[in-house]
Amino acid sequence: MNTLTSERVRTTLDKLYADEEVQDEPVIAALVAKNRPLGDFTHQEQTDMLAEAYISIPREAGELIYLLARNRQAKNIVEFGTSFGISTVFLAAAARDSGGSVITTEWHEKKAEVAEGNIADAGLSDIVEVRTGDALESLKELPGPVDLVFLDGWKDLYLPVLELLEPSLSPGALVIADDMGTLPEQPYFDLVRSSGRYQSVHVPMGDGLEVSVLVAD
Ligand SMILES: C[S@@+](CC[C@H](N)C(=O)[O-])C[C@H]1O[C@@H](n2cnc3c(N)ncnc32)[C@H](O)[C@@H]1O
Repeated sequence: MNTLTSERVRTTLDKLYADEEVQDEPVIAALVAKNRPLGDFTHQEQTDMLAEAYISIPREAGELIYLLARNRQAKNIVEFGTSFGISTVFLAAAARDSGGSVITTEWHEKKAEVAEGNIADAGLSDIVEVRTGDALESLKELPGPVDLVFLDGWKDLYLPVLELLEPSLSPGALVIADDMGTLPEQPYFDLVRSSGRYQSVHVPMGDGLEVSVLVAD
């Protein structure tokens, strides 16, 4: 089974990537005009400024994440940062093929609602739970051991989100962090590269993926 190449998933992704091309441009232009790094803004300001933007992973990164999730046979997948659901569709396609499910998290209520519609269009709603609000709150309760984490919310929260999830990680869990080429986070690198708990490698795809495997018992 390869849900990623199914007609419904392909068509939905084609539409979302086409929308993104039109929709993100003015938002990014307005952001660039501010001439300040994103990290200078509060989380609420970042969420508001990017409320209309997908800022999604590129397709090839989604395909890699799909392959990694499938190869891991990931049953319980957790995502930090849904936006309009593009990456969630890749994760959920893998979950469908591994008999698993996805919990994804989006701060912005309207974005979460639109993402739910997009995930439904892809035929994946039955295995995806979208949790609205701050992931540091919404991920406190989880149904079981987590096999794969995808981090793609505001960057300075990668470390606290992963620390929150660590007690729930299954042995050999896969943790993938996006934007680690363009917005590197040293405290996060310290955990996944230097603590001895993970084996980690940087994949220069899209805005840079840090792919880490939990190796500690
Ligand atoms: C880069 S976008 C995610 C893109 C998405 N993963 C994709 O590839 O289609 C980041 C999203 O994370 C959300 N976000 C940021 N911090 C969050 C938090 N603390 N809890 C939940 N969502 C958050 C933002 O509102 C934004 O929509």
